[in-house]
Amino acid sequence: MVERNGRGRDHPVLTGAPRSPPSAFVEQANVTDPEIYESFAENWPECWDRAAELLSWDRSYETVLEDDDAPFYRWFTGGKLNAAENCVDRHLEAGRKNHAAIRWEGKRGEREVYTYRDLYVATNEVATALRELGVEEDDVVTIYLPMIPELPITMLACARIGAPHNVVFAGLSADALATRMDAADSEYLLTCDGYYRRGNAFNQKSKADNARLKLEHDVRTVVVDRLGEDLPHVLGDDEYDYHELRETFTGETVEPVSRDAEDMLFLMYTSGTTGEPKGVVHTTGGYLSHVAWTAHAVLDVKPDDTYWCAADIGWITGHSYIVYGPLALGTTTVMYEGTPDYPDRDRLWEIVDRNAVDVFYTAPTAIRAFMKWGEEYPNRHDLSSLRLLGSVGEPISPRPWNWYREHIGGGDVPVVDTWWQTETGAVTVSTLPAVDEMKPGAAGPGLPGIDVRVVDDAGEEVEPGESGYLTIARPWPGMARTLYDGDEQFRSEYWDRFSDPDADDWRYFSGDAARIDEDGYLTVLGRVDDVINVSGRRLSTMEIESAITDVPGVAETAVVGRSSEPGGTEIYAYVSTEGGYDDENAVREAIVDSIETAIGPFARPTRILFTPELPKTRSGKIMRRLLENISNGEDLGDTSALRNPEIVGEIQAEILED
Ligand code: PRX
Repeated sequence: MVERNGRGRDHPVLTGAPRSPPSAFVEQANVTDPEIYESFAENWPECWDRAAELLSWDRSYETVLEDDDAPFYRWFTGGKLNAAENCVDRHLEAGRKNHAAIRWEGKRGEREVYTYRDLYVATNEVATALRELGVEEDDVVTIYLPMIPELPITMLACARIGAPHNVVFAGLSADALATRMDAADSEYLLTCDGYYRRGNAFNQKSKADNARLKLEHDVRTVVVDRLGEDLPHVLGDDEYDYHELRETFTGETVEPVSRDAEDMLFLMYTSGTTGEPKGVVHTTGGYLSHVAWTAHAVLDVKPDDTYWCAADIGWITGHSYIVYGPLALGTTTVMYEGTPDYPDRDRLWEIVDRNAVDVFYTAPTAIRAFMKWGEEYPNRHDLSSLRLLGSVGEPISPRPWNWYREHIGGGDVPVVDTWWQTETGAVTVSTLPAVDEMKPGAAGPGLPGIDVRVVDDAGEEVEPGESGYLTIARPWPGMARTLYDGDEQFRSEYWDRFSDPDADDWRYFSGDAARIDEDGYLTVLGRVDDVINVSGRRLSTMEIESAITDVPGVAETAVVGRSSEPGGTEIYAYVSTEGGYDDENAVREAIVDSIETAIGPFARPTRILFTPELPKTRSGKIMRRLLENISNGEDLGDTSALRNPEIVGEIQAEILED
């Protein structure tokens, strides 16, 4: 039905044989009542009280949902709460002060445990320091830290004083950091001297310094000394040492600021169709309720669990399911700084074994790597503590799904394939592990209360078995409220396409294509817009293209996604040069540099192909779809609109060359 542009995969993912939830799991699960779908549907939107009840409110809300200004919905209005208090303080009062909150596993084998009490002390000292440095309620604080404990600590310190955080993934470039700080008018930065990458010291502060040079406003900076003597650094004007600040304010506490439910908790930049990063705004009450509820209902997290989401806190998965969801529930969250294959390919399983992890959540790109490395690595360890496995970030096809369940889960645990986005805040599509059958290759139905619909171009629901656009017909608590400084863009990016404002009928458009089956299970097929999903990370093709056209000598470029191993996507860049730039290697190097500078090393194309011209329509538009088909070795379809059909054969020949 839907014309997909082929990013991600084009071959249909067949779903594997359905599997029932194991009875041992069902007996202990948080949510077991099959009526929950119906009761949420009948009692909507008040059904979401169930999520809000997982939190402690300073003042109860008056209204669950206010929808008079759609699509700018407001949840739990009148309510007041503080996210850090919910994630830290209330667990102390509940007699769990010495319960482990964070178990940190460093890259070099270091291990640290922060109890809830430790977290309380640390976040209070940092919150005091931030206040002393001038941070006021509603000031946006940017955090540019790798996976070290100071990252969640500083996030919670911001939340404590009502200062929205803006975490920028540590692997992003100086330019990308500057763009995000500028767009967010952020005058405070928390960063570190550097971190270890495969055993080597890597300088983070120089990137932060370069970003500051690009900004027109002053930036107060706090620097965590992570590397000590391995990478000495000097602090300049307006720069403060994190540990010294903590020492200065040892034992100080700050009353958590009581925030309106609709006050901003954080913003997070992500890739959109325009090429400009979009600052997605999340609020305190709705977001926190939704992440807590889904950690409880989908990931089945219990306060006494040791839970591990192997993602980076620099992206939404880590915000929602390393920090806010698990800590709101008072569980122990594992935080891992390193990579899955260092020092050896059994590193993750060694961590699961040693910490007796109950619930493990990761991305298909990692699962495919584990499968490729082979079962010998998990087999070295006792993984019998695992009760539930989760997958997020990309489609997972039945083979890796089954492998994951068999070799990591011992064949007998539920696997939840959770579909959601930076903009949805928390999981929106998944099976409930103790209620629903699992179908490998299909994420599942919309969660209770989430009205997911797969529609055609006209917005009509498609028949089972057909593909269409993934939309959501009703609001939900964790949804983005707007884009920072961009109400209009928020409407045009997500709402205009399928909504009918005259009829007050609002439909959220996710930008994904999906197929739905007769049981309402979705198989997500990938993006339909100019965003590609590489290793579970959203990258805008336009952003990469603009970094390429910045290179002297580049005339034109088109960036497309190519399916790699099942479920994976890699970046192909087609480039034509101006006359006189014949040294392709020099241009190629400059392109790689430019992309690394503008975005970061992970956005580097797998292949950069030079071509005298790009295929164009008679009206002069680059035919990206055709380039995708060529890259994927697929049938080219209708090429009659092409002005320069002869170029196609040349490009195909070059693709086949290696
Ligand atoms: O294309 C979908 C894919 O990841 C996109 C969201 O990316 P981001 O905002 O970075 O958030 C990633 C983690 C939530 C979606 O539009 N995606 C996410 N989960 C799945 C998925 N695709 C298929 N199956 C999933 N389970």
